[in-house]
Amino acid sequence: MSAASSATQESAQPKLSLYGGTGTGRRITVRDLAKAKREGEKWAMLTAYDALTAGVFDEAGIPVLLVGDSAGNNHLGYENTVPVTVDQLVMLAGAVVRGTKRAMVIGDLPFGSYQSSPSQALDTAARFLKEAGCGAVKLEGGRRVLPQVEALVQAGVPVMAHIGLTPQSVNVLGGYRIAGRGDEEAEKLISDAKALQHAGAFAIVLELVPAELAARVSAEIEIPTVGIGAGSGTDAQVLVWTDMAGLTPGGVPKFVKQYADLRTVLGEAARAFASDVVHGVYPDESHSYH
Ligand code: KIV
Repeated sequence: MSAASSATQESAQPKLSLYGGTGTGRRITVRDLAKAKREGEKWAMLTAYDALTAGVFDEAGIPVLLVGDSAGNNHLGYENTVPVTVDQLVMLAGAVVRGTKRAMVIGDLPFGSYQSSPSQALDTAARFLKEAGCGAVKLEGGRRVLPQVEALVQAGVPVMAHIGLTPQSVNVLGGYRIAGRGDEEAEKLISDAKALQHAGAFAIVLELVPAELAARVSAEIEIPTVGIGAGSGTDAQVLVWTDMAGLTPGGVPKFVKQYADLRTVLGEAARAFASDVVHGVYPDESHSYH
């Protein structure tokens, strides 16, 4: 390898501590993320829904993987996240945990599995920790879920909050639209973020929020913010992995940057395999036993 290509490879890997490994073989914890915020270290989070893909992201050094209810539209074939069940996500989360060694794996509490009461939230979260082996859970909502966040944290469950656009409320919102526009909505978002921090959340996802507002929230709270469609001023960024890698069919939102074209790559591989079979080219001698 030439000096130039080795330098390029090195610079492609972030040098920051979250990516360099904890040095102890342990998983990333909420303390690592709190330290990253104090030291101004940015980090990346991806969704993951199965062991093999999660293993690839873990080896790539992604410190936090979210088994999001976005599995609904990106893995399970539903139109949105609402139909996803706890059983489905706990099964996917278990696979992601088994496929990884050092990422913190966060289980998303699906619609209807925590809103009723703090004890419902605790029952659901316990399944993600006990059955799947997750290190934390995520739930959507601002002030209305403060009792749930408090109960979970007091019971020993790290909680990532999620405000701005909350896709589980798509039927009330009437679609996916930018949140926090206008003074009143912006002040509400800031006050929700502060209240969630006070309730004990260790991080907050800000989804589809104006960049200036997301930067302001990030500066005004001490826990990390994780942006998705929220500009560059948050402490971390998350993308749905199928969007990031170009597997999602159709268009992707403006905020998504596609780093690969997996849909084309996989489609070409499938077509080449089918053509080899049809033309008797596969299997050949080198792929046969005698
Ligand atoms: O379910 C999910 O993937 C999410 C992210 C978009 C934050 O909630």
